Amino acid sequence: MREEDFIFENPENKILDNGFVKVKSPSNIALVKYWGKSEPQIPKNASISFTLYNCFTSTILEYTKKENASKKPNIKVIFEGEEKEAFKPKIEQFFERILIYVPFISDYDYIIKTENSFPHSSGIASSASGMSALALGIMSLEKKLNPDMSEKYFLSKSSFLSRLGSGSAARSIEGPVVVWGKHPKIENSSDLFGTVFPFKIHPIFENYQDTILLVDQGEKQVSSTVGHNLMLDHPYAKNRFIQANQNLERLTEVLQTGELKEFIQIVESEALALHAMMMTSSPYFILMKPNTLKIINKIWDYRKKTNLNICFTLDAGANVHVLFPKDEKREIDTFISNELISFCQNNKYICDSLGEGAEMVI
Ligand code: DP6
Repeated sequence: MREEDFIFENPENKILDNGFVKVKSPSNIALVKYWGKSEPQIPKNASISFTLYNCFTSTILEYTKKENASKKPNIKVIFEGEEKEAFKPKIEQFFERILIYVPFISDYDYIIKTENSFPHSSGIASSASGMSALALGIMSLEKKLNPDMSEKYFLSKSSFLSRLGSGSAARSIEGPVVVWGKHPKIENSSDLFGTVFPFKIHPIFENYQDTILLVDQGEKQVSSTVGHNLMLDHPYAKNRFIQANQNLERLTEVLQTGELKEFIQIVESEALALHAMMMTSSPYFILMKPNTLKIINKIWDYRKKTNLNICFTLDAGANVHVLFPKDEKREIDTFISNELISFCQNNKYICDSLGEGAEMVI
């Protein structure tokens, strides 16, 4: 599908009465990372992620018919019960970016009521769940104007709009494993939207666990958007993009064979490669904290001692995602409680597992 295919035409100029939609969209954790992009939100390499289940954003999008259709929509954002002016510029920019694909959005004013099941800006991809929830809300509106659209188009366009809000959000609409970015070995993969991993996944990955250790719940010092831009003239960028695409090719096999030792090697290497890019950017920065490294070393020691299939990955932050198969949960949960939780801020952590993606609630 091309960009033009996502432009909505409203020949009868149908305008809805006032109403609302309610949606829910999860976060995702990348196994092969997206770090580096060009305009308009086109990734420099393909990425792949596990869609999460417990970490999600719920959004109610209230729309009211505007008196004057030529004016910009008036948007009010209420985050966890409180009006948030600070979120408005990003959302307004998103509305401007998507206007060409969903021109009907300028027919309404909006109240966006949104809440997360996890701490905002904690390094858990709140932009992924937040932006995909908003995109899905807008697509729910489009569906009211065009009830005949196919399920496939609905999902692809939801991901397409999500991407224009935040790249990683493109991978949150569906699950449990989603690819975003054109890759020669993955048929139908696209730079424009996420697609479900097209091959049969080995049963060992069913219900795979992700325990997120909240090492630092503060605001990030460097936003992902700034980090992506630093890849534009990064000395290692070219090789990094090649490496990511190769890792995705290897992971494509591993997800089918269930070869967990290889899985661990790819996933941990990707996390460290991402942070190595940050440390070698100009200007350079470090998002890991001392406790991030302590946790990583503990995981390595424990894995060596027990031969269990525990591994870690990192997002653009200090928190550690601990990944392991469901059938090792009992032992690994005990290890996490006894040995890792003390490295978390206020002992906070989230137990998550794979999910199926976003849903329209009403
Ligand atoms: C490290 O999707 O947050 O989590 O497109 O600028 O909104 P923008 O960036 P964002 O970047 C996510 C980067 C990452 C890796 C990943 O999720 O693939």
